[in-house]
Amino acid sequence: MRIRINARNRGFQYEAAPGETVLYAGLATGIELPYECATGTCGTCKAKLIEGSVRDAWPEAPGRKFVKSAQGECLLCQCVAEGDVTLEVAKFVQSTEPGACPVAAGAGVLRRPKLLTHDVMAFDVEFEQARDFEAGQFMVLAAPGVPGYRAYSMVNYERAPRRLAFVAKKKPGGGFSEWLFGEASDGAALRVFGPLGKATFRPGITNNLACIAGGSGIAGMMSILERAVGEGHFESHDGWLFFGVRRLADAFFLEELTALRERAPRLAITVALSDEPVPAEEAGRWPQLAFEQGFVHEVARRALQGRYQNIRAYVAGPPPAVDAALRLLLLEGKLTADHIRYDKFS
Ligand code: FES
Repeated sequence: MRIRINARNRGFQYEAAPGETVLYAGLATGIELPYECATGTCGTCKAKLIEGSVRDAWPEAPGRKFVKSAQGECLLCQCVAEGDVTLEVAKFVQSTEPGACPVAAGAGVLRRPKLLTHDVMAFDVEFEQARDFEAGQFMVLAAPGVPGYRAYSMVNYERAPRRLAFVAKKKPGGGFSEWLFGEASDGAALRVFGPLGKATFRPGITNNLACIAGGSGIAGMMSILERAVGEGHFESHDGWLFFGVRRLADAFFLEELTALRERAPRLAITVALSDEPVPAEEAGRWPQLAFEQGFVHEVARRALQGRYQNIRAYVAGPPPAVDAALRLLLLEGKLTADHIRYDKFS
């Protein structure tokens, strides 16, 4: 199928395989079509059908509330061309930068699913060939017999990895999550697309780093900090990680965070407990980490006061936590949008 995209700045043409969404085919071709979640929730990939017809792969997608179907609008991440089509995108679109990690569909195998808390699962996806990605990026994964993809950030960071590490929070009604916490078993075949996302860290920036994560939003931060620590970023810059959970029993990766802190003493790590006072005895098992009571953005506010100069911030987590952190950074920290990185895919 021939896809023609008329963007604000120029036109693009590429081929899509049968069943492939217009967005995924374009990204895999090296065209930076607009997207954020890539899974039908955010509405960022909105486009208008000019010619031809498309099938909507997920008519109930939450992101459809952002489109006017009667006017031919659709979500590029959900529409599949039923022949040659022309679509209009009311945004500037560029080709992918040279050197960017290739975006592709593929198959992976679920490995080592392991409960970290009562509702958080760690798992790996193994590939036959290396899948490069930038620290902070995510993949979309689809399980056998479960319709649609779900986005998960990579936890690890290394070059040319054949195994990517993820964490998932149990979500009632979430197709992939229910499968993962239910019938999934080591060796299950997964469909994968990516890597995606622009909330990335690359060495060479000259900013201090502030990372604010709620719950499983810590995943991408682990990857960013792994790379930043490995590249020696905190030898010349300060760093803060704020990890928000309800109770200490909900926290995970504390050993890994301790190891990062031991390698990078200028990286301050605080676990924020929203639903209980800090249990001193248990928290004392992690002397490298700080623990405070409060929502993660409140704890970040106390620590960052007067320190916003020259910060690049990363934010991830459930939408209310992300919104509160963004308000803090924009309104109190007076950070400009180009100093804040986050991907909306909850
Ligand atoms: Fe398509 Fe978010 S709805 S990218």
